[in-house]
Amino acid sequence: MRTTVPRSNIDVHLKETRLFKPDRAFSKATGLDLKTYKKWLRSGKATPEKYWEAAAQELTWHKKWKKTLKWTPPHAQWFVGGKLNGAENCLDRHLPLHGNKAALVWEGEPGEVFTWTYRQLHREVEKFTALLRNTGLKPGDRVAIYMPLVMESIVAMLACARGGFTHTVIFGGFGAEALKDRINDAAAKVVVTADYGWRKGLQVKLREQVDAALKNCPTVEHVVLLERAFSGRMTDGFSESLGRGTRVSQPKHLGRATVLLWHDALAAVSETQRKNFGGIESVDAEHPLFILYTSGTTGKPKGLVHSTGGYLAGALRTAKIVFDLKLTDVYWCTADIGWITGHSYVVYGPLAAAGTVFLYEGAPTHPTPDRFWNMIARHRVSIFYTAPTAIRSFMRLGNELPKKHDLSSLRVLGSVGEPINPEAWMWYHDIIGGGRCPIVDTYWQTETGAIVISPLPGFIATKPGSATRPLPGYDVDVVDKAGKSVKNGTGGYLVIRKPWPSMARTIHGDPERFKKQYFSEFKGGVYFTGDGARRDRDGYIWCLGRVDDVLNVSGHRLGTMEVESALVSHPAVAEAAVVGRPDELKGQGIVAFVTLKASHAAQLRGNLSEKAQFESLLKGHVVKQIGALARPDEIRFTKNLPKTRSGKIMRRLLRELATNGTVQGDTTTLEDLSVIAALQKDEE
Ligand code: WT7
Repeated sequence: MRTTVPRSNIDVHLKETRLFKPDRAFSKATGLDLKTYKKWLRSGKATPEKYWEAAAQELTWHKKWKKTLKWTPPHAQWFVGGKLNGAENCLDRHLPLHGNKAALVWEGEPGEVFTWTYRQLHREVEKFTALLRNTGLKPGDRVAIYMPLVMESIVAMLACARGGFTHTVIFGGFGAEALKDRINDAAAKVVVTADYGWRKGLQVKLREQVDAALKNCPTVEHVVLLERAFSGRMTDGFSESLGRGTRVSQPKHLGRATVLLWHDALAAVSETQRKNFGGIESVDAEHPLFILYTSGTTGKPKGLVHSTGGYLAGALRTAKIVFDLKLTDVYWCTADIGWITGHSYVVYGPLAAAGTVFLYEGAPTHPTPDRFWNMIARHRVSIFYTAPTAIRSFMRLGNELPKKHDLSSLRVLGSVGEPINPEAWMWYHDIIGGGRCPIVDTYWQTETGAIVISPLPGFIATKPGSATRPLPGYDVDVVDKAGKSVKNGTGGYLVIRKPWPSMARTIHGDPERFKKQYFSEFKGGVYFTGDGARRDRDGYIWCLGRVDDVLNVSGHRLGTMEVESALVSHPAVAEAAVVGRPDELKGQGIVAFVTLKASHAAQLRGNLSEKAQFESLLKGHVVKQIGALARPDEIRFTKNLPKTRSGKIMRRLLRELATNGTVQGDTTTLEDLSVIAALQKDEE
């Protein structure tokens, strides 16, 4: 564990003193009264199980649970003995009252707009469930979803939930290697994908990546391939006829797997099949709803396993109270469904609440830099949830662009993914929110499944840059190395002392790693987040970023080891060390120190243009191995890496070097001092 947190973050946060009082008019309109809120806080603290029971009661169950919590650290079971279905909670139960309400409003990057009501979405999901069952899938089998952000991706997720199949959504920005590793780790039998999606006016060719990946994925039997040009059209055969255009021919097999074309396969599902095979599978509360891969401190991504009952209770309750989500809202969370934010706050939370979810496929600034503001105005978005990195890049583009649009429909603004710097918070508040919308800075993780620390709009005074207080039901603490609570006004490690329902249950195939990673740093079943935090004099929490070898690049989590393994997989590379450095726009940027094998090093020495060429080749290699989000900002070639006598790379020194250009820290354990001297002089 690293003992210090990045200085730059702390500096900014320590200076912040502004306070924004909650708006009473807003809190009156939430339907949540101060008394209930206080009761929640009390019960969440004293008897979290009671609090979460009440949250779980807002779901539809087939069989009530017998025991609320079984806790043998690190193994939690919530709502034991209860039975339910994830898709039913997001669809069927809304049909009587909200069947004709918009569930999804989707805009493709090229500009097409489609709306599906709950009834329409339900029908598509039923058909897709029947199709999945027809492939021979059994409850508990895994389905990999590798899709652009189209409505069909959500159909696929919900159909898995409906049939009791465990989905693993793989972000469309990942390349073939990363895709293959995840498919194999999950041993997925079906892959759902699309020929392409749109981003920045270009086609992102997903199917090509699947093609490459499936050469080495022995478990995959079927691929369902969506032809993007038909995205958003129903599969009832009627809207099909609306301008189908010429069809590009698609492969019949990928690897060993048989390809089923989405629209043809769904159109072929008869009414009888839909009724007989599209129904819900009643699963245990603990049944794995999904596996989601995220980066850790080793080169191998972790597949975090989430439950059905506990996860949904957490996602629904937090979606409702943090965003004050109402039936009348148009809710937009800009995350991709490939991340946990997309799972909990694009799909499961808001749909379980019968919300109207707006979705946008493409890049924020395409074809014009005001695309987001334009869409908020046109679709009358009322709740907007995005990442600090996006806010900072909009801020750079100036105030004129948002001011050109009518943003008066907005009433709540959210932020997630990394600490938001006060400057960006203020801009978001003043320019996007017109000074009138409360900002909810939501702290949580893939592992927590749902928001853990956040203000409740209208109830908690906010301070720019702080996620404020833990939500009811979570026993959050900031502790020192020995696990003791720190005094207000000091910093330490962010932990959660008691289990909560939406916590990840394990790491797929590696329960030992789960225990070691999260429950070994502190004793007594205390969960360690991996983050450093400070609790101020008012008890507000300021998250200061990771204290382990995990980077946060534009709100995306990436292990330094992952990038290192990608680099050393290139034949010319002998050794690599990757560190993060503060980046104004992305939060953190990636700097790689690379030692080349002798013959290659000799070739490059002194030859600047070849060096530059090789640098971009290596960057491209990382992109191919992992995906564009892992592209190093800078690669520095070095003859040696600084190591301790026992041979451990001293990343601390490299971090310092990457950030400040010099090393002033303690170098007493360094084996060869000349290494640092050479690096500072930028010698090869
Ligand atoms: C890490 C989790 C779940 C959200 C998407 C990222 C950082 C997340 C905040 C916030 C400060 C934040 C933490 C955390 N983080 N939200 N509001 N303020 N830091 O999920 O990929 O699992 O990453 O993101 O460092 O550990 P993730």
